[in-house]
Amino acid sequence: MAKKTAQKKLPGRLAAEIQMPPAEVRFTDELEALAAADQQERPDGWKLSPAAVVDFICGRDGEKIRVPGKRKPVEITRKFIGPRDVIQRCVVTLVGERGLLLVGEPGTAKSMLSELLAVAISGSGSLTIQGTAGTTEDQIRYGWNYAMLLDRGPCPEALVPSPILSGMRAGRIVRFEEVTRCLPEVQDSLISILSERRLMIPELTGEPGSVFAAPGFNLIATANLRDRGVSEMSAALKRRFNFETIAPIADARQEMDLVATAAAAALARPGRQPHIDEALVEHLVTIFRDLRSGRTPEGWQVHRPSTVMSTAEAVAVVTSIAREAAFFPSGFDPLSRLPGHLLGVVIKDDATDRRRLLAYWDGPVKRRAEEGTALWKRLWNQRDQLES
Ligand SMILES: Nc1ncnc2c1ncn2[C@@H]1O[C@H](COP(=O)(O)OP(=O)(O)OP(=O)(O)O)[C@@H](O)[C@H]1O
Ligand SMILES: [Mg+2]
Repeated sequence: MAKKTAQKKLPGRLAAEIQMPPAEVRFTDELEALAAADQQERPDGWKLSPAAVVDFICGRDGEKIRVPGKRKPVEITRKFIGPRDVIQRCVVTLVGERGLLLVGEPGTAKSMLSELLAVAISGSGSLTIQGTAGTTEDQIRYGWNYAMLLDRGPCPEALVPSPILSGMRAGRIVRFEEVTRCLPEVQDSLISILSERRLMIPELTGEPGSVFAAPGFNLIATANLRDRGVSEMSAALKRRFNFETIAPIADARQEMDLVATAAAAALARPGRQPHIDEALVEHLVTIFRDLRSGRTPEGWQVHRPSTVMSTAEAVAVVTSIAREAAFFPSGFDPLSRLPGHLLGVVIKDDATDRRRLLAYWDGPVKRRAEEGTALWKRLWNQRDQLES
C-alpha cells in the first residue's frame, strides 16, 4: 500500500529509478495534510505537534483529513502496529533533553520507527549514522577534507560534518542505527553531545570552534538485543537515553494483516496488484509465532530455535513465495514452498535448529494434520523437505 502511494506521487522516471523511496516521499500527502490541520503547539524546530506525530505513526482509525484546495480527503494510515502509548512516550522523550534508544529483538520495526519519527518531526530521516564495529569517532563528530586541510589548514570549509553535527546545526532529528555495534569508547563520544548539546572543534579557533545544537535537534538510536548487548554501553551514556523496548506484534491477526500488506507493498508495480495467498500468510505467521514464543495457541510446548523468527523475516518469506508464483505460475502451490523457505530462515548458524524444526513438525504440525485440517495435512506431507 505504502509503495503504491510513492509511485503515485513520484514522477514516472524517478519512481522507476528509486528502489526504496524514503518515508517523506511515500507519505508526502499525509504529512502535508497533518501539517495543514495541526492546531496544536509545535515544539521549537518541529514540523508537527507531538499529537500529530503520534497520529502519523499510529493512524487516525480511518478518519480522513480535508485539506483546503485539495479535492480528495487524506487518510492517515497506521504504519506501526503496537501500543500507541509507546509511541507517545517516544515523542515526549524527543521533546526533552534526553536521547531516545529503541531496543528490541531483530525485525520489530525499530529502524522503521526511527525513520518515521525523524520524518514527522524534522521532515526527513536522512541524517543517519550506521553503527558498525568499525565506526570511528570522526564519523560521529566530524572529519576533514584532507586536500583542503593541507592546502589551507583547519578552516570551516575544510570541515566534513557528521550527520550529528549537521543535525545540531539545522535543529533536526539524527538517527543512529545499531549504536551498540560500535566500540563502547566510540559510543562514549555521544555523552557530551547529548548532555551539553554542544560539539567542540578544537582545531578551529574563534567562534566556529564550538557548535551549539539548534532547537529541534535530538538523537534516536536503535539497538538490537541479539548483537553486542546494551549491557556493554557505559552507565554514563545509558543515563543520556530514555530506553523504549519494542516488542514483537502481540496479536496474531494483526501480524497476519501486516505481513500480507507489507508483502503486497513490496511487490506492487504500477497497474498491477500482486496476489498474496491468504492461507500461506496464515500458516506461516502461525508457525513463526509458535517457534518465536515456544508455545502454540493450543498450549503445546515447542523447542524454540536460536534464530529470531521476526515479522520482518515473515514478510521476506511471503514476498519471495509470491514473487516465485508471479514468475513461475504454472501449477504453483504456495504452501508447498513454505518448508523450504522456513529452513532458510531457521538454519542460520546453528545446525541443531534443523532438529528443533523437525520436532515442531513431528509435534504441532502432525497433531493439527491428524485433527483433520487439510492445509496442515499438506504441510505435514512436506516434511521430507526439512530433512534434505
Ligand atoms: N510492529 C510493527 N509494525 C509495523 N511493521 C512492522 C512491525 N514489526 C515488524 N514490521 C515489519 O518489519 C519490517 C522491518 O523492520 P525494521 O527493519 O525496522 O526492524 P528492526 O527492528 O530495525 O530490525 P533489526 O534489529 O534487524 O535492524 C518493517 O518494515 C515492517 O514491514
Ligand atoms: Mg534496524
